[in-house]
Amino acid sequence: MKSMLSIVIGLAATGVIGAETIKLPAPNNDSGVTVMQALKARRSERAFSDKELSLELLSGVLWAANGFNRPDRRTNATGLNKQEISVYVIMKTGAYRYDAKGNSLVKVCDADLRPAIAAQQSFAATAPVSLLIVADVGDPIYAGARSTLSNYDAGIVSGNIYLYCAANGLATVCRRSMDNDALRKALKLPDTTVLHLNHPVGYPAK
Ligand SMILES: Cc1cc2nc3c(=O)[nH]c(=O)nc-3n(C[C@H](O)[C@H](O)[C@H](O)COP(=O)(O)O)c2cc1C
Repeated sequence: MKSMLSIVIGLAATGVIGAETIKLPAPNNDSGVTVMQALKARRSERAFSDKELSLELLSGVLWAANGFNRPDRRTNATGLNKQEISVYVIMKTGAYRYDAKGNSLVKVCDADLRPAIAAQQSFAATAPVSLLIVADVGDPIYAGARSTLSNYDAGIVSGNIYLYCAANGLATVCRRSMDNDALRKALKLPDTTVLHLNHPVGYPAK
């Protein structure tokens, strides 16, 4: 599998890096282990190697988190099928929104926001990638009794990330901690959004 470094060098050579959109390879639906083996391996890990993720693995974990597995439905269930969850990819080279339909990353910020993801837990900034789970609850259905619906939906995305990582030899941890204000500002997230959880993802430290 090509390393992220070689991809970064390749992209730089072709002038794609820093581009507004990075096209992801198709997720490999034959990768991983059995569901039972993944459940056995699932755990929170907080020590990461500095080895970069390949675009293939990034594509896979994003598809597992919030991708389309049917023409208009996703790998993650959502209450009332509102599909209000978006996943942002926080990397050294900038921050991107996962465009699940286009299987691509759309750049939203040039800065390295991993320190804002880490906040008081510096280990989180050492992972090459963090996935930020955001819900847009601007729809009036989220008023009143349904105000917490997106919390559950975010938890399902988190579970999918844990399982993909466990099945593919990656380390991750679900985190509520982060600098919400800094991330909201840098990612230009509207007031109707809730920043629920984040997942540093990388290879486990040796
Ligand atoms: C909603 C939620 C929020 C969490 N927030 C954090 C966090 O901010 N920082 C952290 O290090 N771990 C966080 N965790 C991870 C838990 O500490 C971890 O899942 C728990 O200790 C059980 O360990 P295990 O996942 O290995 O079974 C969170 C987990 C959940 C489900």
